[in-house]
Amino acid sequence: MIDDIPPLRDVISKYGLDAKKSLGQNFLLDFNIIQKIALTSGPLDGITVIEIGPGPGGLTRALLAGGAKRVIAIERDERCLPALAEIGDCYPDMLEVVHGDALEIDCAQYCDGPTRIIANLPYNVATPLLTGWLTGENWPPFYSAMSLMFQKEVAERIVAKPGDKAYGRLAVLAGWRTDAQIAFNLDPQNFTPAPKVMSSVVTFTPKSSPLPARVKSLETITKAAFGQRRKMLRQSLKSLGGATLLERAGIAGTRRAEELDIEEFVNLANEWDAMAKSKSGPRFLSNIYGGKKPSDTKELYRDWANSYDQEVEGENDYAQPRRCAEALSTVLDDRAGHILDIGCGTGLSGLALREAGFAAIDGCDFSNEMLEVASAKSVYQRLFFADLNQPPIDASNEQYDGATAVGVFAFDHISPDALDEILRILKPGAPLVIGLNEKFYDKGTLEEKFNQLELAGIVRILSREIGDHLPVAGIKGWTITLRKSA
Ligand SMILES: C[S@@+](CC[C@H](N)C(=O)[O-])C[C@H]1O[C@@H](n2cnc3c(N)ncnc32)[C@H](O)[C@@H]1O
Repeated sequence: MIDDIPPLRDVISKYGLDAKKSLGQNFLLDFNIIQKIALTSGPLDGITVIEIGPGPGGLTRALLAGGAKRVIAIERDERCLPALAEIGDCYPDMLEVVHGDALEIDCAQYCDGPTRIIANLPYNVATPLLTGWLTGENWPPFYSAMSLMFQKEVAERIVAKPGDKAYGRLAVLAGWRTDAQIAFNLDPQNFTPAPKVMSSVVTFTPKSSPLPARVKSLETITKAAFGQRRKMLRQSLKSLGGATLLERAGIAGTRRAEELDIEEFVNLANEWDAMAKSKSGPRFLSNIYGGKKPSDTKELYRDWANSYDQEVEGENDYAQPRRCAEALSTVLDDRAGHILDIGCGTGLSGLALREAGFAAIDGCDFSNEMLEVASAKSVYQRLFFADLNQPPIDASNEQYDGATAVGVFAFDHISPDALDEILRILKPGAPLVIGLNEKFYDKGTLEEKFNQLELAGIVRILSREIGDHLPVAGIKGWTITLRKSA
């Protein structure tokens, strides 16, 4: 007995806390193991601990009994709150339970003196949470150590070294800024319900001075390089400057992503930034906000295709693809659904869809040069030419389970009337997410078309959200989610 609260099994049955698969829950009940996790990064005296997904509170109790100064427990599942409140009563003023989604909460706000993150992470959000903690703007970060439990396969990806099969973006990010090690492994039978796979506890100690690089650039480089890990770098990094970039970083274009060490990735990120700063290539962004004839739009993208990713994503932190992919994932549960990325351009919007978990993505665009760059990213199942202003496009009626149109409803791009054609190829009840810059939205023609379609009962607007579009350029944008009527 470490406290006056009933054993975990009793707590679980008292509050009816059967683990929910949809929340990635697997509860650990063996107190010896739970205590071992609590103390993996050393004694807890004087430490504030942030715990994600406490569930019935087993680890929470071990942290408090182990001497933590304070525990902030972030839990999304409402059913667990009464059990956690009971623990709070036993440790007055030492436990703060935050009811919410950890992906939407900035944990840094709870930092209070030396702070650790210790958690048996809900497995369905483990990787995005870790990525968030590794890619903060400020370094050293708000935490002095992390002890986190993952599925073993994810843990292996975190600690992998160049040449390992599991080596990829996660290993580069983790190894760049922290010393990450697998502390111990756990058999499935330690959990309720028993998962199919082994789990591992990984400890992370932040490095005080990692090799200097801009996080965003390192992410862009690793995303492109590992997106096609079997291709030579001169091919996978083509849209980021290809041979020129590799030559500047002193790396042979015939090498592959999985062979590069962290220092080499850092060099690539820094050289990529230096190329962008020297602004050697032509600039296009300022040309797309009006004043052009539609016929010029095609020429613009023809000339822009090879430097689009660098200018839009690299220099301006293009936010809209991720926003749209996340919006689609909140309204479309079926990650295997067939999605069309309309006006896919070089594939940044498709990459974001893949990162959000979608697997069957087609793309179409009216610029063959943009389509060629997209094809090199190997994200799309099918890529095809389509001018949305000249319907019909080459897709059958009610073919798709969902669609995105990111950055394509704009001045002299796709006109609002193209919505009729997009709705033709969507299944009844299928969602469509449109991401567009506020300048075009303010014109009102798209909103007029929405109103017509909504009045006729053809679609329903589910949400409209303003947020970042091209944050560095200070341009905001709308992410609008519609559903075709059933
Ligand atoms: C700003 S880019 C967006 C590309 C991609 N969705 C992204 O978010 O990075 C706009 C894309 O729309 C395409 N486009 C413009 N007008 C079009 C039309 N009438 N039909 C099909 N594609 C069009 C362009 O070729 C270009 O690739």
